[in-house]
Amino acid sequence: MPQQVRAVVARAKGAPVTVETIVVPDPGPGEAVVRVQACGVCHTDLHYREGGINDAFPFLLGHEAAGVVEAVGEGVTSVAPGDFVVLNWRAVCGDCRACRRGRPWYCFSTFNATQPMTLEDGTPLSPALGIGAFAEKTLVHAGQCTKVPQADPAAAGLIGCGVMAGFGAAVNTAPVVKGDTVAVIGCGGVGNAAIAGAVYAGARQVIAVDLDPRKLEWARGFGATHTVDAHGDVVQQLRDLTGGFGPDVVIEAVGRPETYRQAFDARDLAGTVVLVGVPNPTMTLELPLIDVFGRGGALKSSWYGDCLPSRDFPLLVDLWQQGRLDLDAFVSERIALDEVEEAFAKMERGEVLRSVVVL
Ligand SMILES: NC(=O)c1ccc[n+]([C@@H]2O[C@H](COP(=O)([O-])OP(=O)(O)OC[C@H]3O[C@@H](n4cnc5c(N)ncnc54)[C@H](O)[C@@H]3O)[C@@H](O)[C@H]2O)c1
Ligand SMILES: [Zn+2]
Ligand SMILES: [Zn+2]
Repeated sequence: MPQQVRAVVARAKGAPVTVETIVVPDPGPGEAVVRVQACGVCHTDLHYREGGINDAFPFLLGHEAAGVVEAVGEGVTSVAPGDFVVLNWRAVCGDCRACRRGRPWYCFSTFNATQPMTLEDGTPLSPALGIGAFAEKTLVHAGQCTKVPQADPAAAGLIGCGVMAGFGAAVNTAPVVKGDTVAVIGCGGVGNAAIAGAVYAGARQVIAVDLDPRKLEWARGFGATHTVDAHGDVVQQLRDLTGGFGPDVVIEAVGRPETYRQAFDARDLAGTVVLVGVPNPTMTLELPLIDVFGRGGALKSSWYGDCLPSRDFPLLVDLWQQGRLDLDAFVSERIALDEVEEAFAKMERGEVLRSVVVL
């Protein structure tokens, strides 16, 4: 029997989100219904609401979630009802050209549920990143459910997007190696996770850059050795802190041309820029080609921290449970479903690292 549950929907570009009744079908072949226990509010949800990702309104928002598998469809053997899972947006296909070349973290044909969830009148919803977890229950592909040891769902769910994206940008994409000097521009949930990743990877210096002093203070808590107020000359300050050379790795976790340019200009010769912030489709960037060549190194983008959920989610839970990754510190507040719109405002005012909807 299809179920009716409460969920957060973005109906139109820029309009405040609303809590609506949605219809969740029974899982078909390869699918699973998950009872969501917690889901973090990521900046990408706000990008969806702003029409910055695409125009496929109405969106069912939420994608950083943990919960319990309620039911599985035909042929599902990877998870079973009762399993505690973190949802992922990279259920690798095993068969696309990336997977066949042994690079499944780039999978170009990831699985999502094939049946739509709908509004009560039958209007199909577009689930954010194929998940849609600001909902009491959601329908996903079984491969989107990654089993992890039982843990606090509010913190565990953050592994499903922002924490993995930031941590992986440092550890997998860059990759930061021991002895590197690293700067992270933008210290929200994603940037602070990149700081934690750089520390884990053995960076000798981890410089946090943000406009907001609160974010810089939190960054120190995640292991930043230095902080830079982005109201000043960021490039100069990063050079001054690194013997005049600039950091080996600069991770951009804002998603704007001006901060990308700072990353490009600040890194040392042969250094690496990692773009993990998501720009909107209207943004453009102009760079002197002579510097692209002359400065050498690598300009990389990081999708989801180049993670493989089945490999990396349990690893992050281990680090957390051993006290080596303070996942709890990302949870600024626990909120109800009808407080997501307010959480967007708090995010924009810089008051939180993550508001987490707890169900
Ligand atoms: N690549 C991926 O797979 C992936 C995954 C999740 C999120 N993201 C993206 O990462 C970005 C960050 O997400 P978040 O949830 O941490 O957002 P957030 O809003 O919590 O954090 C952004 C931070 O950037 C800071 N900032 C803004 N302008 C700045 C500037 N000019 N200089 C320095 N700092 C500045 C803000 O003060 C804030 O602390 C977003 O664009 C989001 O869409 C990417
Ligand atoms: Zn694939
Ligand atoms: Zn996200």
